Amino acid sequence: MSDLKYLFEPRGVAVIGASHNPGKIGYRIVDNILAGGYRGKIYPINPRGGKIAGVDVCTSIHGVIHDVDVAVITIPAKHVFDAVMSCAKRKVKHLVIITSGFSEIGNSAEEKKIVSFARDNGMRVLGPNIFGIYSSQVSLNATFGPQDIKPGNVSIITQSGAIGIAMIGKTRVENIGLSSIISVGNKSDIDEADLLEYLVSHDDTRMILMYIEGVRDGERMVNVLSEATKKKPVVVIKSGRSARGAMAAASHTGSLAGADEVFDCIIKQCGVIRAERIQEALEWCKFLADAPKPGGDSAVIITNGGGVGVLAADACDKYGVSLYDDQDALKSSFGGSVPDFGSTKNPVDLTGGATGDDYDKSLSIALKDKHVGSVICLGCETAVFNAEKFTGVVKKKYRAYRSNKPVVFSIFGGELVENGIGKLRKENVPIFSDVYDAVSCLGALYSHERHARSAKPTYEKVQIDAKAIGGMVRQARKAGRHFLLAHEAHEVMSAAGIAVPASRVARDIPTAVKCAEGIGYPVAMKVVSKDIIHKSDAGGIALDLDNEQEVVDAHESILHSCKAHVPNAYIEGVEIAEMVKPGIETIVGARRDRSFGPIVMFGLGGIYVEVMKDVTFRAFPINRAGALDMMGDIRSYPLLIGVRGEKKKDIDTVAHAILKVGAIIRECPDISDIEINPLVVYDEGEGVKAVDVRILLTTRSA
Ligand code: ACO
Repeated sequence: MSDLKYLFEPRGVAVIGASHNPGKIGYRIVDNILAGGYRGKIYPINPRGGKIAGVDVCTSIHGVIHDVDVAVITIPAKHVFDAVMSCAKRKVKHLVIITSGFSEIGNSAEEKKIVSFARDNGMRVLGPNIFGIYSSQVSLNATFGPQDIKPGNVSIITQSGAIGIAMIGKTRVENIGLSSIISVGNKSDIDEADLLEYLVSHDDTRMILMYIEGVRDGERMVNVLSEATKKKPVVVIKSGRSARGAMAAASHTGSLAGADEVFDCIIKQCGVIRAERIQEALEWCKFLADAPKPGGDSAVIITNGGGVGVLAADACDKYGVSLYDDQDALKSSFGGSVPDFGSTKNPVDLTGGATGDDYDKSLSIALKDKHVGSVICLGCETAVFNAEKFTGVVKKKYRAYRSNKPVVFSIFGGELVENGIGKLRKENVPIFSDVYDAVSCLGALYSHERHARSAKPTYEKVQIDAKAIGGMVRQARKAGRHFLLAHEAHEVMSAAGIAVPASRVARDIPTAVKCAEGIGYPVAMKVVSKDIIHKSDAGGIALDLDNEQEVVDAHESILHSCKAHVPNAYIEGVEIAEMVKPGIETIVGARRDRSFGPIVMFGLGGIYVEVMKDVTFRAFPINRAGALDMMGDIRSYPLLIGVRGEKKKDIDTVAHAILKVGAIIRECPDISDIEINPLVVYDEGEGVKAVDVRILLTTRSA
């Protein structure tokens, strides 16, 4: 349960470091609070007393006799702790620490001292290193950003101060109303998850936009986000997609930017809509804050140009908007308003001769038709296209139907068209010159609706023999290793119920021959030694051995070559393994991620895994449906369901393997990483084989 009510609805706000100098942040904050029409009481605090922006100043917070729910602190870093102590005595509830010069420059000790003292004294800390907070509920603009903020129903949480301040200005230009904007800066205490918990049940907030550079407590974030997106759309802009960007993000706020691929998959799993660009995010916010629920799953495109209709259909494919496809129904609905040489197939093409009246008629049909979930209305400037008439129809229809059915518009053309777009956008009509921008808004809405409607996953526990696995881990630790040898990793797989190729370790030639006969020819042989990491480079592998003589020769050759390659290596023996039949090579893994805790991975495996980069991730736990969903995510999925007459592969057993490796990571805290590559997948009913398995143990400090 969130305890942030009085951060958003303070009855009294003190500004410690309120300045007499209009050029200083401490003045600007007082001025903004006054200009914003704050409905509570403001108490500027400055040892010099007097008046600031016309308000009486208290020389100390102790001089304030009424409730102070929030203290905004804007004095140099070295004085902040003293101010925090005075706030504790005054029973302040929330500290909004604007001051920079803490963990972001390596001064973590001071920041920790402040937070721990604040928490011990019942105070929560926002910041430090922030521009403040705006909350429309009490008209509080406790920021040093712009004064002109339009109240509304979008909440913004931002890790970057500069982007946040700029966004305030931009939202005004775009006519987007805010219910709050909160700068989290160093996130020393209050973080995005805390704020989301509050905002999700905040009546004035209809959707939430977050700018993130790094995630702190990813496991909690996954839980909170998954809950939040069931109720409200959450759009995220996360920087650090590229390696250079991630480095810049790490040095900007000192936060740990995890692998972007992992972040991308996991926030999608949580139902979050990720925007790449700020402008795109703001367009989505504007649309989502106002749009009604779609009346159904599919959209109708109305256009006067075939080309732009095709572009819109492509955009629908890209953004996950499905198109209404009942040809008979389309014909009977739109047949009367489309000329013979036009098309009633979706896109409904009114052709280049379409007039404002034609648009009026067909838009009415689409907006009233209960089978049509949403509408995409497009116009291209043609010889007979009247931009003024078109924008007039758009305005009329949008006003009439805006609360019934989502509709987006795009017109493309010259100055008159652009002017028309500008005017309509000022009235918050979702109209764009680029068709992709229009469709992406609808895509964001559908993406949220699909997630909100999807059933909450239930998890069943998968069986693994954690005790046996623990035994193997202890054995490796005893031998001073932070990893398991290949045959130990195979034993872990067996203890988890994941099939591995039959194998045994032999310490001499007669045993090797006996093992090979027991397994059945052909067999593979591999050296077993913790000192030889790259077995094939050391000549430690022999494949396709068909008889006793080949096993004897291979044994001698492996030992000879490994000793020559790594002279001091301790060789425990040679592993004799079943030669695995070819199948689809996949990769399955799990690890304890620094940001998100236990995560699982699935993708196309084999030696080109790094090049193909066809992998996906999920925060664990997931259930069987989630594991199957992961498989559907990868580009190579068709290989698993069978291409060119091949049979469907055993995806159920793969799903099981994903759940098992996730369960190992979750239940065996000593194991940090598991990677099966390849996990060879056979036809349906014929199972899988975990061929190469790498298991790493947590280092004690981790
Ligand atoms: N209690 C009350 N008032 C005090 C106290 C105190 N203990 N100590 C000093 N003051 C008064 C000062 O007398 C001064 O008032 P005056 O101008 O009337 O004399 C006022 O508080 C401010 O103190 P200064 O020492 O003048 O501090 P200054 O304003 O120069 O800097 C600040 C303080 C702004 C907090 C600075 O240390 C800082 O951290 N700046 C960076 C802030 C920032 O950028 N945050 C991140 C934002 S996000 C982004 O990137 C945009």
